[in-house]
Amino acid sequence: MCGIFGCVLKEGEAAPLIHQGLRRLEYRGYDSVGFATISDGTLHMRKDQGRVDEVVGRLGLDKMPGSLGVGHTRWATHGAPMMVNAHPHTDCENQIAVIHNGVIDNFLELKEELINRGHVFESRTDTEVIPHLIEEEMKGDINIGEAILRALRRLEGSYAIAVVSSADLERIYCARNESPLVIGVSDKGTFCASDVPAMLPYTNKVVYLRNGEFAILEREGFKIKRIQDGSAVEREVEEVTWTLEMAEKQGYPHFMLKEIFEQPKSLRNSLRLQQQYLDLLTAFLDRGRELFLVAAGTSYLACIAASYMFSKLARLTTYPAISSEFIAQYGSSVGIDSVVLAVSQSGETYDTLKAIDHARMRATTVLGVTNTVGSTLTRVSRAYIIQQSGPEMGVAATKTFTSQLMVLSQLALRLARTRGKVSQDEVDDFEARLLEVPVYVEKVLEKHGTSIRSLVEKYSGERLFLFLGRGISAATALEGRLKLLELTYVPSLAYPAGESKHGPISVVEEGTPIIFLCPRGETRREIVGSIMEMKARGARIISVCEEGDRDIKELSDDVIEMPLGIPELLSPIPYIVPLQLYAYYLAVEKGLDPDKPRNLAKSVTVP
Ligand code: M6R
Repeated sequence: MCGIFGCVLKEGEAAPLIHQGLRRLEYRGYDSVGFATISDGTLHMRKDQGRVDEVVGRLGLDKMPGSLGVGHTRWATHGAPMMVNAHPHTDCENQIAVIHNGVIDNFLELKEELINRGHVFESRTDTEVIPHLIEEEMKGDINIGEAILRALRRLEGSYAIAVVSSADLERIYCARNESPLVIGVSDKGTFCASDVPAMLPYTNKVVYLRNGEFAILEREGFKIKRIQDGSAVEREVEEVTWTLEMAEKQGYPHFMLKEIFEQPKSLRNSLRLQQQYLDLLTAFLDRGRELFLVAAGTSYLACIAASYMFSKLARLTTYPAISSEFIAQYGSSVGIDSVVLAVSQSGETYDTLKAIDHARMRATTVLGVTNTVGSTLTRVSRAYIIQQSGPEMGVAATKTFTSQLMVLSQLALRLARTRGKVSQDEVDDFEARLLEVPVYVEKVLEKHGTSIRSLVEKYSGERLFLFLGRGISAATALEGRLKLLELTYVPSLAYPAGESKHGPISVVEEGTPIIFLCPRGETRREIVGSIMEMKARGARIISVCEEGDRDIKELSDDVIEMPLGIPELLSPIPYIVPLQLYAYYLAVEKGLDPDKPRNLAKSVTVP
């Protein structure tokens, strides 16, 4: 949710690097910003509400002195987005500065205890207990590293933290529990950040801190210890293959547009998965009596689509489950015969990790699909696959949705072959079309990449949209709606078309725009019926259908034509693309920033 960046350099000033690092992390949160640096034995700290560039410019943060420092971009969890709640937070003497991503569950008890001991608090945040706890421990006449370790042992909840203090002019201290933190090493110095792209301009040599670990960053390197007992941890440095170019905009006005256009490439990468991983996951899936696809947000919508593939092709009973509901809904019934396949772009979504913790406790086989090597999901899964879509900087998931579906389609296909419940021809045909998906997406981008703007303009004044689809297209409708909602804030509904007459039809009046997903396939006759029902009530119909589909065209006010030959079961991948573009251009038309929708964060690492 929040972004953390820190560096301890052999030479030069830290503040400009912190500024650049936070710009790359702004997708994680952007309501306030703050820096703390150390120079001439003094801790310097400035912070305020606002976005990174604006606050840095207004407060001159990038001129702050010192070769060692940390910075934070915030997404509020406790305390409104205002200066006093911005990070860093300090102790009573302003000697210890802490930045934090996560939520301290027991902060109220700790705060009360510290207030009783005479500490004075300024903010309403949970984070502020941390510097005061460290200050309290330091009264025991121990060094700051030991004091931080003792303070950490008292914290319950999730955290990635970085601490600087005038008590140690040479080091940054950091720790992690459930919120991500990566260390970077280079000949310039040592770095820490919430994710890898933030430090790519300086290094691609990284070390992923794990839950319950504490790290000391020095100019020449780092040390890792276990929080619990202070014992040393040896960890290999890994080399990441993402280039800085991959993580930047490459001439597109926004990351989101770049990422939409990158999909043919990211899909090709997702087709090149290592066969032994697919085989391994398939073997585990085949042992399951039932499959739960567990995820949040867009990843959950990819799971809804994939559940049709697993049920239809592999004849495996499959339940898509929202991760925050999983324990309440299925927690008492999952067991040794169940398989949970968790899907998470970041691999760090709190609710998804909680759900799989629960499943593991019940001896359920937990598998993962994620985009993030070294993420928590990769460590807690029995086996996992990296979806290979590269860094996604736009807050809205686009290429990661299509890549997740590409991976899940391959798994469903492989499982279909293993279980042999549908005909060989059907499976062969599915495989042949699957290999064509990047080409279908290329064609969609060629045809609609910019021309869809005229359609966007035509409907730009609308205050409500409906998205309807049948079968697997219900998932496409839900994801199309999510994109429109999160980017443009235009209220919109999405339903399986058959369900729309059980309530949602009541909002339809003369002129209401309804986007229908109409690929050719089993659900086509029924979707024609649904279009007629809505048309009879005055709705304006925008259909996403195969080119040359005359029946649908005749019933529609506008059509978005799709390439020929896309099978229904694979249609969510190409059919979502015009809806991603639609939401993007409408956001731009409304003067909104599509890369940073309000109130959202790229990865939700808090409860
Ligand atoms: O990293 P994850 O895939 O677990 O993230 C899940 C959701 O937070 C994410 O998909 C979110 O819904 C996106 N903003 C959607 O565009």
